[in-house]
Amino acid sequence: MRMYDIIARKRDGHELSDEEIAFFVGGYVAGDVPDYQAAALCMAIFLRGMTARETGCLTAAMARSGETVDLSSLPGVTVDKHSTGGVGDKTTLVVAPLVASCGVTVAKMSGRGLGHTGGTLDKLEAIPGLSVRQGPERFLQIARECGCAVVGQTDDLVPADRKLYALRDVTATVNSIPLIASSVMSKKLAAGPQCILLDVKCGSGAFMKDEGSALELAQAMVAIGEQAGRHTVALVTDMSRPLGNAIGNALEVMEACEALRGKAPEDLESTCVELAATLLSMAGKGSLAACRALARRQIANGEAFAKLGEMVRLQGGDPACLSDFSRFAQPAASREVRASRAGWICHMDTERVGVASMELGAGRARIDDAIDHAAGIVLAHKTGDHVRRGELLATLHASSDARLDAGEATLREAVSLCDERPPDTPHLLARVSAEGVEWLGWAARPSVRA
Ligand code: URA
Repeated sequence: MRMYDIIARKRDGHELSDEEIAFFVGGYVAGDVPDYQAAALCMAIFLRGMTARETGCLTAAMARSGETVDLSSLPGVTVDKHSTGGVGDKTTLVVAPLVASCGVTVAKMSGRGLGHTGGTLDKLEAIPGLSVRQGPERFLQIARECGCAVVGQTDDLVPADRKLYALRDVTATVNSIPLIASSVMSKKLAAGPQCILLDVKCGSGAFMKDEGSALELAQAMVAIGEQAGRHTVALVTDMSRPLGNAIGNALEVMEACEALRGKAPEDLESTCVELAATLLSMAGKGSLAACRALARRQIANGEAFAKLGEMVRLQGGDPACLSDFSRFAQPAASREVRASRAGWICHMDTERVGVASMELGAGRARIDDAIDHAAGIVLAHKTGDHVRRGELLATLHASSDARLDAGEATLREAVSLCDERPPDTPHLLARVSAEGVEWLGWAARPSVRA
């Protein structure tokens, strides 16, 4: 078998065989296939696409490329939740302890933020003392003891994805549905949960800017998960506005704590309850309606919040900071950004809001950039709100005035004020499972109605 022929066959629109895909993945990880041939194949896949069989086969070959995690020693059903990435997305910090407080185990490996999107590991590390580097035994021990553990992925998990993702990043081949689906799902399959819930973000702050491609990605990932024998469901949720009001690591942990105490902004509350209810229902805890009620009860009775404290303590963090926010790192400089005119906030370029947060120091432009845990944005208003001239739009936090200047300029570009009230946009768009697509708020989205 020759890599040249595999590239040529995909370039010409043929379906690759299982053997050809395994030859490519194995050869690339071993160093026998050079970057230039792997890049050429990624571009051919980007342009020609892959069938569901090819995508499933690519995912399985990638998942087998390194170590896999065995969660079978954990009690009950093991579940995982994965977001395709957005701005202000702190749902894991809410959903993992919430679900664990209902007796369902979440043993989860998360990632770091890059570019405009945040990462759960960076958020967790904003908690003084907390470590996301736990050995495999300790990871399982924490999950067994309190029902949830969220740690960093080891270097040996899916090495094929680490190499391929870095290559795609510099060859303009990230935005391909089969390549994204296989990248995400190979890591989920290798991490070992029985049930996988995918939160596919859709809108200006997401990878998938439009509903059609978000739905296609959700369907591709659900098909891969089910084909691999894991119960897999995807929720397509709105990312045309940041989720909640806080963007930035310590700020998002604080907002997650408020959410677990029943004081979340409405979009964050409804998204977290739906994610938690879907996971609980997948794990056999009852109907979706019963699981929504269960999730709300666990927030109201304080058990979900207590569970976060337990996980933080077991991962070496200071649980007292979850109730006393003065224990978090504090920003050196802050600034209020006020509306330059009266009007309706009719659009937020949410990717630009994420870039503003990165410029403030909350994110990284390059993989090895340092993070300022105290930096970020607290939005006072979002799309759909009316503001008076001079009214507070957002408060920015950073380490210097220069960073505040950069963040303010980008945030102002990202927020559009108009004279007309924009249509309401729903937070939950669709639920995709092996049974098909259930439309939630989909029809209310203006681009779908048109
Ligand atoms: N996230 C991933 O893990 N992989 C991709 O390809 C895109 C987003």
